[in-house]
Amino acid sequence: MILEIENLKTHYQTEKGVVKANDGISLSIDENEVVGLAGESGCGKSTLIRTLIRLVPKSAHVTANKMNFKGQDILSMPEKDFREKILWQGIGLVPQSAMNALNPVYRVGDQCIEAIQAHTNYSKAECEQIVKRLFDAVGLQAGMMKAYPHEFSGGMRQRSMIAMSLVLNPALVIMDEPTTGLDVLVQERILRNIKEIRKKSESSVSILLITHDISVIAEMSNRIGIMYAGRLMEFAESMELFNEPYHPYTLGLKNAFPSIQALDRELISIPGSPPSLLGDLPGCLFAFRCPFAIDECENERPPDLEIKPGHFVHCIRTDHIEEFRKLAGDKKTWQSSKSAT
Ligand SMILES: Nc1ncnc2c1ncn2[C@@H]1O[C@H](COP(=O)(O)OP(=O)(O)O)[C@@H](O)[C@H]1O
Ligand SMILES: [Mg+2]
Repeated sequence: MILEIENLKTHYQTEKGVVKANDGISLSIDENEVVGLAGESGCGKSTLIRTLIRLVPKSAHVTANKMNFKGQDILSMPEKDFREKILWQGIGLVPQSAMNALNPVYRVGDQCIEAIQAHTNYSKAECEQIVKRLFDAVGLQAGMMKAYPHEFSGGMRQRSMIAMSLVLNPALVIMDEPTTGLDVLVQERILRNIKEIRKKSESSVSILLITHDISVIAEMSNRIGIMYAGRLMEFAESMELFNEPYHPYTLGLKNAFPSIQALDRELISIPGSPPSLLGDLPGCLFAFRCPFAIDECENERPPDLEIKPGHFVHCIRTDHIEEFRKLAGDKKTWQSSKSAT
């Protein structure tokens, strides 16, 4: 197993109180696996990533029963070891905003080469070869290595960041909304490039792909997690999650994004917005927007039920799911939730 997280909590200490941005996340990523993580903005996706690579502010309180990368405990690992052995060489990152991640005054190729030189003993020529190969893998011409960030389009910048995250051959690459804000054609191309890279790479590379758009990860991921309000609502093998979703929030997210199978289907958005994560929050945090919520939902936090082997659901109403699946396709159903009325 490449990554193993159990009951991870990242709580930000703020002037107004504690913000529970990640509150009991458990998931794993296998070797050569793509795990997608979807959820609306503000549900804690970036916090999870920042926690994994130690980019959360010092004031944040991080705890976990387990946080292992290739069997090593990366929660308690000394800072120096983490920087030298895990960051970039073990876990690569494609940050949410590729725009700000590149230094505007250096050529993009040089920035990639420097990243390799900082961590290895390769010669300049060897580094150049590696970068050239990776540029090729993400569909950038070798000549673009000499260009400055402002000469790149948004999609090209994003692809150069993907190349950069791979320079040290990490076992895991985390991509935070790699296609958000790009037009659909560019998005498709980037996703195709990611697939190509995985096919071409000699060593296996696992990917944690984060997005607010569930349709982006549908065909890319082996398994998918659905995040909401700092918690994982559902986690399952992708096909199963799409064909047999068990959580009302998953049903809602599926409704809200176009799918390739049914492009003409009317999109139904979930009324309301995610809750503030400040303070103690009892019960199921989706209850307020859930058309199927009953009083019990608001009082007690649901357990993570393993409904089938490897399929986890954070809901107490799973025995009514067949009925919910039928009702979820109807816009009127969603207008009956508390947040809609
Ligand atoms: N440094 C921080 N201090 C306090 N609260 C934060 C901080 N970073 C994020 N948050 C809060 O944590 C929640 C989750 O944010 P984030 O992880 O960025 O979500 P996402 O990436 O899913 O949009 C939000 O309510 C956000 O306001
Ligand atoms: Mg984010």
